[in-house]
Amino acid sequence: MMSVTVSAPGKLFLLGEHAVVYGGQCIVTAVNARLRVTLTQHSETDQAPRLMIDAPDVDLEEWAVPLQRVVDRGGFSGPSAFIESCVSVFYRYHPFVSGLHVETNSDFGATLGLGSSSAIVAAMLYGLGELFDMQLTRDELFEMGIEAIQQVQKTGSGADLAAAVYGGTVYYANQQPRQITPLEVESLPLVAVYSGEKAGTVNYVRQVRTLHEQLPDIINPVIDTMLAVVEAGRTAVESRDWEQLGRLMNIQHGLLHALGVDTVALATLVLIARSVGAWGAKLSGAGGGDCAIVLVSDEQRAQVVEALRDMGGEVLEIEMNAPGVRIEV
Ligand code: PMV
Repeated sequence: MMSVTVSAPGKLFLLGEHAVVYGGQCIVTAVNARLRVTLTQHSETDQAPRLMIDAPDVDLEEWAVPLQRVVDRGGFSGPSAFIESCVSVFYRYHPFVSGLHVETNSDFGATLGLGSSSAIVAAMLYGLGELFDMQLTRDELFEMGIEAIQQVQKTGSGADLAAAVYGGTVYYANQQPRQITPLEVESLPLVAVYSGEKAGTVNYVRQVRTLHEQLPDIINPVIDTMLAVVEAGRTAVESRDWEQLGRLMNIQHGLLHALGVDTVALATLVLIARSVGAWGAKLSGAGGGDCAIVLVSDEQRAQVVEALRDMGGEVLEIEMNAPGVRIEV
């Protein structure tokens, strides 16, 4: 095969963010905003094989580097980091000699916090597997993806990667061995709203870790309660008990607030959504900005959406429970 296009979904955290970092569990759902990658093999006769990238979302145009330099390196940074890291991990399993052109485009920019880095990792590795005719299982893809992410950033539970690789709504346990369980649910009555601020996940994970180290007797019980909320949330999702799930989302938001990752914009959106009839609302992800999610019935949806917009929220036209990484035709 000379060229292949694959896509992977973004994600939102239903429950368990931050707690999952400490060997805990969470529930994530894939969203139908997707990132697409086209991979093309290049045979260059006049020079050594190169890795070439065109990724306008991260301001990379006609970017190129000798392939050998990528595969010889261990750590990566900058806008090309995740792509380079995937190439180096894949190369360890399957060395190749051709040049490679990578072109990306996405339904969401890097700004919304929908997980563009995990989507790029899932899409890159799946695409490379297809291009070089390796039948990678989802479990293998996931393990390679974790390696690729760890070469770029030391933190990361892998939950967002699980959503990108497996799709749907997954219960994810960050233990050895990792447990990834798809939850049986056809759709989730959620609205996603962008708070207008971009959050730096790594900084917030660090901030919570520091708080945890400073006040372990106080923060450990918060994390334990989050984990209890995830377990109850799993049952609520599986039995489609939306009132209960809403209640649990509200509790998780309160616990995230206690960890210091809430913002004025997120809190405002969450409180307004609840006040006009949502079952529940919370921030999604590390906090400090990005998106909130609102669980709401079909009957109340229009009035919730209007209230969120009145408060300056950008309501995203996305569906949850989307398929995982796949070939695009
Ligand atoms: O900010 P996001 O959407 O990338 O989510 C981060 C979730 C954390 O649990 C805080 C970190 C992680 O690696 O799971």
